[in-house]
Amino acid sequence: NKVVLAYSGGLDTSVIVKWLQETYQCEVVTFTADIGQGEEVEPARAKAKALGVKEIYIDDLREEYVRDFVFPMFRANAIYEGEYLLGTSIARPLIAKRLIEIANETGADAISHGATGKGNDQVRFELGAYSLKPGIKVIAPWREWDLTSRETLMAYCEQRNIPVDFSSKKKKSPYSMDANLLHISYEGGNLEDPYWEPEEDMWRWSVSPENAPDTPTYIELGYEKGNPVSLNGEKLSPATMLATLNKLGGDNGIGRLDLVENRYVGMKSRGCYETPGGTIMLRAHRAIESITLDREAAHLKDELMPRYAKLIYNGYWFSPERRMMQAAIDESQGFVNGTVRLKLYKGNVVVVGRKSDNSLFDEAIATFEDDAGAYDQKDAEGFIKLNALRLRIAANKGRSQL
Ligand code: ARG
Ligand code: SIN
Repeated sequence: NKVVLAYSGGLDTSVIVKWLQETYQCEVVTFTADIGQGEEVEPARAKAKALGVKEIYIDDLREEYVRDFVFPMFRANAIYEGEYLLGTSIARPLIAKRLIEIANETGADAISHGATGKGNDQVRFELGAYSLKPGIKVIAPWREWDLTSRETLMAYCEQRNIPVDFSSKKKKSPYSMDANLLHISYEGGNLEDPYWEPEEDMWRWSVSPENAPDTPTYIELGYEKGNPVSLNGEKLSPATMLATLNKLGGDNGIGRLDLVENRYVGMKSRGCYETPGGTIMLRAHRAIESITLDREAAHLKDELMPRYAKLIYNGYWFSPERRMMQAAIDESQGFVNGTVRLKLYKGNVVVVGRKSDNSLFDEAIATFEDDAGAYDQKDAEGFIKLNALRLRIAANKGRSQL
């Protein structure tokens, strides 16, 4: 029997390789993906080899990740609990999908991952895996083993000659971090006191607004069917677009977030996030929608959005309800084309202009000047009177609130 492991090349998942081999007497296939976490993935090959792994998969999934997961989610303007841009949540279904594809290719009957038994990630990996391959077996070492502290983990490595120098070249962070092209997250450590303010040097992707440049940066984002496709007139691939916006946003102190959120498994958890490019994209998308979407279509999207965000947070990307909502959202995006002009300044994304060949904004109608018959102000009288009818009836029946 064979198991495909989502392998980062770090210490924890290296221990998992050994533990799976010992505990289940199985062949381990490793899978390492570049989804823009900002670390080289190639070194994972030598590390896996040293652990006796024969089938090693290393994939660059950056374009697929942004094109097929991040962009569809941004077409919905998704935000969880009013603030979180779902930077970790949206990466998990892609990993689950690749794990299952590799299981099919290698004839493996199980998958494994390094998420703990207390978090959202285990749910997202496994709901994804089960919906793509219902008979798959899942092994989640953190729910089974007793290597629950740094010390027991180290001792385990020593006994089995697993090299522990893995993380020594980087500055050791006291936080549990997770990064991909959309964001970097920090949890644990001192953050577990929700009143404690993180030190400035925790943040890795952005300068603080205080330290951002005193002169604003202006950009022009071009949209097609609800997706950002060009920056300052230059066409960019999805992954390059997001990477470039991350840089621009980070340099201007944009996209920091510190919040307490509700995990699907029931607990509250405090997390800090940097989502510079995503913060810019959300603003820009809403701006281009503001001139291209019909009012009721826009409002319906806004009503669906919290449900859509919640199902992504909870791990239901590969569900019939997500596909239904996605179809409705995507149907609305056909005319969401045009250009948004933005000013990035000390932590702020300010929309300063929007234009589109598909604009519904009609100057002739909206103007305060004389409008040459496009809108007859006398019509408003009847419109208001009929809408007031039920209010007047109630007031006549003694329900006036005066
Ligand atoms: N709380 C966030 C979420 O559930 C971030 C999770 C970070 N994951 C991690 N393995 N450190 O989406
Ligand atoms: C984990 O527990 O593995 C990370 C946190 C989370 O998944 O919510």
